[in-house]
Amino acid sequence: MLTTTFALLAALVTISDAALTRRAACPDGNMVSNLACCALFPVLEDIQKNMFADDTCSDAAHTALRVAFHDAIGFSKTQSSFGTGADGSIFIFAEQELSYDANLGIADAFNLEAPFISNHTIGVADFIQFAAAVSLTRCPGVLRPTFMFGRVDAKAPAPDGTVPEPFQDVKTILARMADAGFTPAELVALLASHSIAGADDVDPNLSGLPFDSTPSVFDTQFFVETQLRGTLFPGTGGNQGEVESAVAGVLRLQSDSLLARDSATSCLWQANVNNQAFMASTFQKAFAKMQVVGQNAATLIDCSDVIPEPPVLSASAAKAFFPPGLTLSNVEQACSSTPFPNLPTKSGAPEHVPSIVPDPATAGACQDDGSGCVAKFTKPA
Ligand code: HEM
Ligand SMILES: *[C@@H]1O[C@H](CO)[C@@H](O)[C@H](O)[C@H]1NC(C)=O
Ligand SMILES: *[C@@H]1O[C@H](CO)[C@@H](O)[C@H](O)[C@H]1NC(C)=O
Repeated sequence: MLTTTFALLAALVTISDAALTRRAACPDGNMVSNLACCALFPVLEDIQKNMFADDTCSDAAHTALRVAFHDAIGFSKTQSSFGTGADGSIFIFAEQELSYDANLGIADAFNLEAPFISNHTIGVADFIQFAAAVSLTRCPGVLRPTFMFGRVDAKAPAPDGTVPEPFQDVKTILARMADAGFTPAELVALLASHSIAGADDVDPNLSGLPFDSTPSVFDTQFFVETQLRGTLFPGTGGNQGEVESAVAGVLRLQSDSLLARDSATSCLWQANVNNQAFMASTFQKAFAKMQVVGQNAATLIDCSDVIPEPPVLSASAAKAFFPPGLTLSNVEQACSSTPFPNLPTKSGAPEHVPSIVPDPATAGACQDDGSGCVAKFTKPA
């Protein structure tokens, strides 16, 4: 029975061009363009119900998104030793890769995802990118991510130094991204992800510090708020890779601050302000590219139809604003060709943005220094 299924799948893969335009029914009744994609529905149902559970674009979703970048960026166009990209190496060789400084906090993703990876037949690389795509569908404002299926899992770990650090200068960050195949425009597009993100480890005394005042909505506030003159730290400050932010409770990364102001990227940065459609579509495209870094795209199967539709962000909710008490005079204009627009100021007293509540499932045996991050990923028969 199993053999027959595999033979059938193999036959379908070879005619995938034709199959893409057709609709076929999976054994469980789900409709797909390619029957190979049916294997993803049990994973989808399990992680929706048990891994993301009631997460509404909060800690679990953020965690699953970040690890997808840290796995994928282990790749270089010039040095094969940098890894094979979106290949699962960050989990397969977790004890090594999670000991790198730039991967501090990725242990959370391992603790969250490893038990689920072991329970499903799909590869580690596919699981990481699939979970990231599904995580995005928890976030209002995201355009439905695509998903390609069939990555080859890593045979070796990525070395230290492939992941950009928040204390690096713009030149260094852009060079690393270019070496992995990404333009400055694609980096800025990808950094829309920091609209639904925060830091647990930049300030060692505080965790869950959001990067903007709306960390559970994929809106343009991240681009608005990083352009405002920094005046405060959410904690005592002085941490490597952290600069002053403009809103109490919000942490600003030095890298985001510099990218917002450097002539190489500031126009791209400001172009996102109050431009939800632009931000969402450029992110969707760059994210699709990130998800297949280092993989042979021609051998992957388009299973985008398995990814659910994300919640809609209404036009009024997508309108950017200045946080209470702030105006255009607080903006550090950095580009005249895409000038920072005037925006309404949100009414009320200056707010203290609450920290992101940790998901208990991100705690476990895997530690921030990489110790205990061992999983066999034994697959069910
Ligand atoms: C210049 C490149 C980047 C730098 C320097 C950078 C740096 C960081 C840092 C320092 C944190 C906080 C980690 C912690 O303390 O917990 C963080 C969080 C995060 N980053 Fe980035 N990042 C970059 C690009 C990206 C990209 C391309 C993505 C995704 C496509 C991404 C997604 C995230 C997410 C979702 C979080 C929140 C994780 C969580 O709350 O668990 N980042 N990033
Ligand atoms: C994995 O499957 C086993 C056996 O069905 C189950 O007991 C366990 O709870 C599952 N783990 C997760 C994380 O769902
Ligand atoms: C922050 O944490 C460090 C140890 O990591 C401690 O020495 C220091 O006193 C703390 N600072 C504050 C303000 O709590």
